[in-house]
Amino acid sequence: MNEQIVILDFGSQYTQVIARRVRECNVYSTIIPFSTPAAKIAAMKPSGILLSGGPSSVYAPNAPLPDRTIFELGVPVLGICFGVQLLAQFLGGKVEKGLKREYGKGILTVKDKSCALFAKLPASLQVWNSHGDKLTKLPNGFKPVAVTENSEYAAIENRAKKFFGLQFHPEVVHTPRGKEIIANFVHGVCGCGKSWTMRNYIEQAVEEIRTQVGQEHVILGLSGGVDSSVAAALLHKAIGEQLTCIFVNNGVLRAREAEVVQNVFARSFNIKLQYEDATKIFMTRLKGVTDPEKKRKIIGKTFIEVFQAATKKAGKAKFLAQGTLYPDVIESVPIAGNPAALIKSHHNVGGLPKKMKFQLVEPLKCLFKDEVRLLGEELDVPKEIVWRQPFPGPGLAVRILGEVTPSRCEILRNADAIVVEEMKASGLYYKIWQSFAVLLPVRSVGVMGDERTYDYTIAIRAVESQDGMTADWVKLPYDLLEKLASRIINEVKGVNRCVFDITSKPPGTIEWE
Ligand code: XMP
Repeated sequence: MNEQIVILDFGSQYTQVIARRVRECNVYSTIIPFSTPAAKIAAMKPSGILLSGGPSSVYAPNAPLPDRTIFELGVPVLGICFGVQLLAQFLGGKVEKGLKREYGKGILTVKDKSCALFAKLPASLQVWNSHGDKLTKLPNGFKPVAVTENSEYAAIENRAKKFFGLQFHPEVVHTPRGKEIIANFVHGVCGCGKSWTMRNYIEQAVEEIRTQVGQEHVILGLSGGVDSSVAAALLHKAIGEQLTCIFVNNGVLRAREAEVVQNVFARSFNIKLQYEDATKIFMTRLKGVTDPEKKRKIIGKTFIEVFQAATKKAGKAKFLAQGTLYPDVIESVPIAGNPAALIKSHHNVGGLPKKMKFQLVEPLKCLFKDEVRLLGEELDVPKEIVWRQPFPGPGLAVRILGEVTPSRCEILRNADAIVVEEMKASGLYYKIWQSFAVLLPVRSVGVMGDERTYDYTIAIRAVESQDGMTADWVKLPYDLLEKLASRIINEVKGVNRCVFDITSKPPGTIEWE
């Protein structure tokens, strides 16, 4: 069992970021609801407890409050933002509405250099604040260790009990040395080692998969995306021949997709791969359909049918493996007035129907996406797959406006291949969130040689994003744009015009649909 830090979630949009920062220190972290009973927390044997921020005020009537006895477990506690206010209020201090909301960048001055949180850090640090409430009286046993312009209690400690509080957010990138503060807490204060690495995780996960699965067979739907690919490599390491991967060609894949997946998994990894070419059935059902939601529904439903039939062909399997990630399984905290609770992806395919009587194997369910990528590298999954950009489940169908036809798919595939190739050549492909081509089924007039053309338009989309929820368009260099347009128009038959999408999200979305 790994050492772990538990994070009590009070509804901050940054709770998961805190968890990731802890893991980046090679210490395992788990997010649990703020209301978790102290006995349950004690049973998890945490090396330390982190109290997240949150949108509430500690003195509000409906404030999310933890079990009071968490402060009696003898475990170090670090409260961040709402967390420090809560810690102070619970232990006898006072929190009031601040005269001025402290928001954005600030300078922290460390007054007591002997505080373990600031070990090996300079006396002056850039920090990021976001709070309206203010600590006005410290509880007994606490003293201030750092100040900002607006707060004389920006960092506080009770050294004897190992309780700490930070009014600012050490987890966000706008606090550039924040990771070191978190590292000081988990290593320096809580005494954690560095046992959480993907290399160690492989051993642990292999063991768990073998115990769960025994001699039974496992089926995995392989999409060629990062999660299912890494899950396939991990499962294969654990159970070899007992794993069968099913790869469905839905006709709206990118160029060479089916080929790459077969090369990597069937040939290099020697994984049992069942290739289902369902192009025809998808194309037949998509014929004449122009409504984006209908297209999505048809693709989703057809996929389930094809996959179900394929599992029957694959033989007797008791288990179905899925590349579910940690953010999908964290119990979300319903806190009144918490906007973070409302921001939910509208896409996630609801999974396979319950009537498919499989037991689930989810070997990535305690990992964040960046950890899955590291795990993939550790398992020798090629960079082309591990670091690929997100690609929607309904594939090119959401990038062909209007009706999806085989010839339009062909045009978009060729244009998209050029975008991917040139983005990789420019070094930008792996630096940004997504870059792709969209087919606009609008014809316009052009000239090519002596001939008049009347062809489609390709829109080029390149966006930067942290998580796909918001995005900004990437200012691609002019010479790259020029190259993309000229190659697409010259090399892709059926296209005579290229445009570049300069819409951010919101108000736009990333995909056009
Ligand atoms: P939008 O277009 O809503 O997309 O701004 C946000 C992110 O989600 C991806 N996306 C999908 N991913 N299944 C997926 O797994 C889908 O159906 C789907 N639709 C959009 C999109 O590529 C972007 O990264």
